[in-house]
Amino acid sequence: MFAIRFPFFGKIVYVAEPSAVRDVITGDPHRFHAGEGNAGPLEPVLGQNSLLTLDGDEHMAQRKLLLPPFHGERIRRYADAMREAAEREVAGWPLGRPFPLRPAMQRITLEVILRTIFGVNDPARRARFSDLTTRLDRVSTPVMWIPALRHDLGPLSPWRRFLKVRAEADELIYEEIGRRRAEPGFERRDDVLSLLLQARHEDGAPMSDMELRDELMTLVGAGHETTATALCWAFELMLRHPRVERRLREEVADGGGDEYLDAVMKETLRLRPVVVDVVRKLMEDTEIAGRMIPAGTYVVAAIAVVHVRPDVYPDPKEFRPERFLDGQAEPYTWIPFGGGVRRCLGASFAQQEIKVVLRTLLEAARLRPASTRPEAPRARHVTIVPSRGARVVLEERLRPARVTSSHPFATTS
Ligand code: HEM
Repeated sequence: MFAIRFPFFGKIVYVAEPSAVRDVITGDPHRFHAGEGNAGPLEPVLGQNSLLTLDGDEHMAQRKLLLPPFHGERIRRYADAMREAAEREVAGWPLGRPFPLRPAMQRITLEVILRTIFGVNDPARRARFSDLTTRLDRVSTPVMWIPALRHDLGPLSPWRRFLKVRAEADELIYEEIGRRRAEPGFERRDDVLSLLLQARHEDGAPMSDMELRDELMTLVGAGHETTATALCWAFELMLRHPRVERRLREEVADGGGDEYLDAVMKETLRLRPVVVDVVRKLMEDTEIAGRMIPAGTYVVAAIAVVHVRPDVYPDPKEFRPERFLDGQAEPYTWIPFGGGVRRCLGASFAQQEIKVVLRTLLEAARLRPASTRPEAPRARHVTIVPSRGARVVLEERLRPARVTSSHPFATTS
């Protein structure tokens, strides 16, 4: 347990011992508020009904509505969309020329979310959503994490620019909700929006448009960059460990199970957790790991620290997927998706997507790192990304490419 004092946020207490982590992430949600911890940076984009920014009974009410569409069984139906997005993307990559994987992975994960969660099948309409998501991301600077700085100081001020792009994004989302509701037979569709339109609160009321907007924004915000970043780290680590790549290629070529693929995914998320910590605000004085911590303190489960404990993971800085082949990790020692009633809603979705995309790209291409120097972790918003965007070179196509004109590399490859 350690504490750091931050400007504006005060003292923040970190725990990195598995039993203390368990106490924090599975503690009584009325006592450990996660929403308040998240709301500072996230509420301007996600809104007040977001699963990420709510607490207590209101959070549980939203979570009950959102959980069914994210069940493992349902998620399996999205595998084709994940594979197709990866195939389309790799087909446009340039041969023999360095490029960063990060934007490429973002295109894949955004397309997947727009198809499976928003249910937007028309490519032109998806392009409008993509454009707005990218612009919204660009204007959501960390400066806005501090409420006192959320002021309109003229047309060029960050807050004014943010409000303008957010209004455009809201208009498009509300339009999509309206179109879907009016679509005959939407009840038979299996995208998340169509399922949420049929979900009912305990009193029988449907979700309001504002609730739907906030949750859609939450799902794209929480699910797109995170998964893309995990995929970048998987390649950044795997391509620098030829033994791992060889073994993975053997398994993929074999076409059988995905034991090693699963281990590579888990080891990637252990060594390079995309979200390095999860925060809870204490609503009452609470004893944690034998110390009394006063109400009002932010307590953080330090995922990245737990994941490199040498008593849990021998040679913790080494990338060695084999460690996940022999059985499960001990409880609260592998926590890239947090835990308790706040555990990542998209954990199954993300794990499936990482595995499907990794497999598809391995089948389609042979890559190498663009430089011999490994990429360092660098903070970007609430995620930790490879410092140079995971730059690679496509050495060989293992399948003929089908380049579409809408692909950013289409004119150059
Ligand atoms: C590798 C990819 C991902 C990582 C590493 C990740 C990680 C996390 C973490 C650490 C949390 C906080 C858990 C806590 O406070 O205990 C979280 C929450 C959440 N994630 Fe993910 N996530 C990923 C992908 C996704 C995807 C694909 C979706 C949806 C499409 C998603 C939706 C959410 C939502 C809605 C929450 C809030 C849950 C709640 O507060 O009840 N995430 N995620």
